[in-house]
Amino acid sequence: MRVLTVCLGNICRSPAAQGILEYIANEQRLALQVDSAGTAAYHIGKPPDIRSQESLAQLGIDISNQTARQVQLKDFYTFEWIVAMDSSNLASLKKMAPKDSAAQVVMFGAFESNRNYGEVRDPYYGSDDGFIEMRQHLITISKDFVEHLNNI
Ligand code: 4NP
Repeated sequence: MRVLTVCLGNICRSPAAQGILEYIANEQRLALQVDSAGTAAYHIGKPPDIRSQESLAQLGIDISNQTARQVQLKDFYTFEWIVAMDSSNLASLKKMAPKDSAAQVVMFGAFESNRNYGEVRDPYYGSDDGFIEMRQHLITISKDFVEHLNNI
């Protein structure tokens, strides 16, 4: 199973979502290939924001080797799931999605119609606390997402 996590810049939320999903999938023995990308091009080639790196390093999750990239059309044919961090990211993805793509393009916080953990807020312009909040939110969603995948 392949999952692409998507935010705006691919330096704060989606690299953290990738690291957390990989960690939890491994813990739950689910074979999952995860990558991340941004809808915008501002930060292509950069490592994750140091605040995202540090908030995950506190849990022993290393995301320092990730490199920001932008979403590409071919992603819609490579990944079974493309999960957006907020509704603006989701709208960009839906606009871009080719009609013949089989990927499920959904909000990460609402991957099932009967569950809604809300949007993963952009912490970029805020304080360090925002990154801890982001981390906790991503852990909650990721645990449920991995459980969901393990049950289908
Ligand atoms: P991300 O956060 O989408 O979670 O990576 C952002 C990073 C950079 C910018 C906005 C959001 N920016 O405007 O540069």
